[in-house]
Amino acid sequence: MKPTVFVARPLPGNHLERLAKHARVRVNDTGRDVRKEELAKAIAEADGLISMLVNPLDKSLLRQAPRLKVIANYAVGFDNIDVPAATELGIIVANTPDVLTEATADLAWALLLTASRRIVEGDRLVREGGFRGWHPGLLLGRQLSGKTLGIIGMGRIGTAVARRAAGFGMDVLYTGRRALRPELEEQLRARQTGLEQLLSMSDFISLHAPYTRENHHLIGAEQLRLMKREAILVNTARGALIDERALAEALRQQVIAGAGLDVYEREPQVEPLLLSCDNAVLAPHAGSATWETRSEMAAICVDAVIAALRGDVPRTALNGPLPRRQ
Ligand code: GLV
Ligand code: GLV
Repeated sequence: MKPTVFVARPLPGNHLERLAKHARVRVNDTGRDVRKEELAKAIAEADGLISMLVNPLDKSLLRQAPRLKVIANYAVGFDNIDVPAATELGIIVANTPDVLTEATADLAWALLLTASRRIVEGDRLVREGGFRGWHPGLLLGRQLSGKTLGIIGMGRIGTAVARRAAGFGMDVLYTGRRALRPELEEQLRARQTGLEQLLSMSDFISLHAPYTRENHHLIGAEQLRLMKREAILVNTARGALIDERALAEALRQQVIAGAGLDVYEREPQVEPLLLSCDNAVLAPHAGSATWETRSEMAAICVDAVIAALRGDVPRTALNGPLPRRQ
């Protein structure tokens, strides 16, 4: 009998048809996220799972899936999954690296430009009939060229953002576990530094670190106070890297000049105070939301599930090789 694979949301593209040659595919087509009990029921009988970043997969849930061999998370981030628990239970976990790097860097850049040039405020002004003609002081923003961009977390996406910064004539400061190669540092005008120095010296700051318990509220009231008053903060990584309430207060009191956010601490809820800040640009967690990227993410998840069900270690596995689960 073919193995069973549960897919937590319909996916763009037709990659699930390819999966259907290898497995019985069950898709949650309710038009909403699966609830925890529904997920528990679905994975109790599944050999494979394609999960969404909004599906928390903790140890107690994974224990209810005796046949599950692989979880392919339709995201690069995997903070929704207890990976050590999965490893202990013999479940392979895979994610979708690389294919969303450029799309996410583009969105970070879009937020940076939108916040610095006050595009959303301008759009509102025009639609509401407030544009009464050009004048020298209308909606002045901040220039990017000649400024310093601080990148927190210089992995694949952080590096892609730094490449864009070079095109805009910016200098880059960055924090991260690893330093870039010296030739690349030179090419990108990038210098590794400590967090405090980055916060106090950057004109624009963009977050590209994974969310871990140690990174919780990496940016809070104290860090916001270290930033320049003209600073603009962008987050396309994970909401809980920032103390959202503290950020909203800082924006309201103009401790910093602006923010461009794609992710929130308690999605889909957004701190109410943020909603009333004109100097915040708010996107709905859309970093990877291009047709190209979302289709490639589906392809990678399908490849990972097929490989794992065959007994191979998927190219995108985060753990393994693991003893084979029957
Ligand atoms: C999106 O947030 C992802 O992690 O892919
Ligand atoms: C602006 O529109 C200019 O021509 O300077």
